[in-house]
Amino acid sequence: MAREATLVLVKPDGMQRGLAGEILARFERRGLELRGARLLRISKPMARKHYAEHKGKPFYDGLVQFITSDPVLALAVSGESAISVVREMMGATDPLDSAPGTIRGDFALELSENIVHGSDSKASARRELALFFPDGLV
Ligand code: RTP
Ligand code: MG
Repeated sequence: MAREATLVLVKPDGMQRGLAGEILARFERRGLELRGARLLRISKPMARKHYAEHKGKPFYDGLVQFITSDPVLALAVSGESAISVVREMMGATDPLDSAPGTIRGDFALELSENIVHGSDSKASARRELALFFPDGLV
């Protein structure tokens, strides 16, 4: 058990559907702390870096296309076991497998439009936070 920081992205579909406030509120109500927030349109090079682990997979090009298609809200959130807590609150990658009560389980139906991203490990969180918050967190 340890205090951690993690990166959340409200993806373009979540922004278009006006779910940014709802998603942030869920994390805040759980007790996580907001340490950084940026509204930005991700560039292609940045998207390729962010999703580098998926390079070569059949869905990679579509994923890069999608995440750069419209602005996203990048959030740095911290708290006890924040990385796994955020992932649990997001739900399974495929919304059809996501439990009700999770973000994807409540708001999504499609794998390619699953509303949120959350770092999946300590190493990913460190790398992704540095990519989206190069000046560090407050
Ligand atoms: P994310 O990175 O977006 O938080 O999602 P995740 O960890 O739950 O899932 P990941 O395996 O990292 O996949 C990244 C995103 O790629 C899309 N995907 N499509 N067609 C497919 O088989 C497939 N697999 C993954 C999803 O939109 C997923 O969020
Ligand atoms: Mg992932």
